[in-house]
Amino acid sequence: MVNFYFKAVAMASVLVAVISIDLFSSQTSAELQRFEHSLKNVGSLSLLVIGDWGRKGEFNQSLVGSQMGKVGEKLDIDFVISTGDNFYDSGLTGVDDKAFEESFTNIYTARSLQKQWYSVLGNHDYRGDVQAQLSPVLRQMDHRWFCMRSFIVDAEIAEFFFVDTTPFVKSYWNEPWKNNDWRDVSPRQNYISNLLKDLDMALRESTATWKFVIGHHAIRSVSIHGDTVELVDELLPILKANGVDLYMNGHDHCLEHISSSDSPIQYLTSGGGSKAWRGVYTPNSDKLRLFYDGQGFMSIELTKKEVKVGFYDIFGHHLHQWGMTKDLSPSI
Ligand SMILES: *[C@@H]1O[C@H](CO)[C@@H](O)[C@H](O)[C@H]1NC(C)=O
Repeated sequence: MVNFYFKAVAMASVLVAVISIDLFSSQTSAELQRFEHSLKNVGSLSLLVIGDWGRKGEFNQSLVGSQMGKVGEKLDIDFVISTGDNFYDSGLTGVDDKAFEESFTNIYTARSLQKQWYSVLGNHDYRGDVQAQLSPVLRQMDHRWFCMRSFIVDAEIAEFFFVDTTPFVKSYWNEPWKNNDWRDVSPRQNYISNLLKDLDMALRESTATWKFVIGHHAIRSVSIHGDTVELVDELLPILKANGVDLYMNGHDHCLEHISSSDSPIQYLTSGGGSKAWRGVYTPNSDKLRLFYDGQGFMSIELTKKEVKVGFYDIFGHHLHQWGMTKDLSPSI
């Protein structure tokens, strides 16, 4: 009798295990949704990139916002990219959190910034209700808002691959006091391997002239957080194998442009949206083209042949400019 009971329980739990594995894999599959963004002007595109910003206007956030408005006007931008840490200190508490208006809608009021804002999540966003930031309710409140975990924006001459980098960082999974919202991304290894597989396939199939990847965390950085080892180990090989041109991130509250000798990928940090001036600089063996420890933002101007990257401080001064061209003439 006892024996039979155990067998029955064992059978039942095998069944339950099979069913729950099935459910898990469908929940944690990171399908990369693709969105088309049609350009205002045929064959050219411009945009601004900002990160680490939502502090209700404080720490120069408002000044950064008004300079973005001016530069955005001058460049006649198509859209804005946010590299994450959208709302400090702990994301949004829900879709009714006033921080959404106080840190976003009421700050970036310039006419030129009334465009789509494509956003990823940062580690601080994970400390709140992640689903609130992803919710269509926010898009109804402010039509500019567009935040997903990982997705693709196809802007004709360029493809932008947005990657949810927070779950990569192992130490965050061992910090229960931060109350990270791991719904839909747990278990970590499933989520990450599905995401990397989907990203690799999407990059490989892409026929765009320019391939840009965006994540919250840096691959290379000389500031306080430095390189993100999990991204160096797991994400970077995929970017290298698929001819990615630029990797853009926030997380370190500064502006950086780094080139390394082992690939043509340019590493661009735009994390100067509000609190900055950390005062840490750790040189590495890469070629450092810009390190500005204060507030500011980045611009990208693009044609099929040429990319131009610019960095600005809160006074609108050009801190750094860099460009590269692609020879599109067929090789004989
Ligand atoms: C605001 O920007 C100015 C100019 O860069 C800087 O001197 C000041 O420290 C900044 N304020 C804060 C709170 O970071």
